[in-house]
Amino acid sequence: MRVLTVQNNEEMAQKAADILLAQVILKPDCVLGLATGSTPLGAYRSMAARNKEVSFAQVKTVNLDEYCGLDATSPDSYVSYMRENLFSHIDIDIANTYLPDGMQEDVSAACNAYTALIARLGGIDLQLLGIGHNGHIGFNEPDTVFQMDTHCVTLSKSTLDANAVHFARPADMPKKAITMGMRPIMQAERVLLLAGKEKQSILQEALYGPVTPQVPASILQLHKHVIVIYVAA
Ligand code: GLP
Repeated sequence: MRVLTVQNNEEMAQKAADILLAQVILKPDCVLGLATGSTPLGAYRSMAARNKEVSFAQVKTVNLDEYCGLDATSPDSYVSYMRENLFSHIDIDIANTYLPDGMQEDVSAACNAYTALIARLGGIDLQLLGIGHNGHIGFNEPDTVFQMDTHCVTLSKSTLDANAVHFARPADMPKKAITMGMRPIMQAERVLLLAGKEKQSILQEALYGPVTPQVPASILQLHKHVIVIYVAA
């Protein structure tokens, strides 16, 4: 594991964008695993600003998660987030960008389809992650077991409270989501975990505490190639 400490969010964003762009330079037809939330926004802004330097024409992306019940027309869906913050600023083919389908009535079919899709793409070359205050990655909430494949989760109070700020009407925030499980994350060639200074305590627990599904990100201690960039408190 490589742990890089930076002084502020801007520096974290620059370094994260450097690593993501380097991945695309090294393997133009790579599969990027992407994340949402506030933490990766700076990296996406930086990638958008450098969109003449690197082509995403052959890149495929799989996002970690999506809320149940929000479609592409909802400004609060992660589909909208990705279009707004990254995809509309780079030359990626939108048909090569994938998120779990939170609108499908048969949720378990939607989960299985996403698991199969990731396998069909040949897995993930570089997976970008943030971390929740309770140690979640994607929407893999604290649990009694590590959930390995795509599954539907009931969001914890901590996650609902933390993410309510992203909703114009917090009461409309879905209570369920579909998330990629631990298997594709652990099988990704590389993982890039970003954490702002407000995450310092849970980050320490995840990186140096016991590996337990109660702190989902702790499983990353077992990954062969993790890069962590965090802002010093
Ligand atoms: C959300 C997302 C995660 C993200 C986490 C942290 O729940 N599903 O993928 O890493 O929140 O978000 P933030 O970066 O806004 O703190």
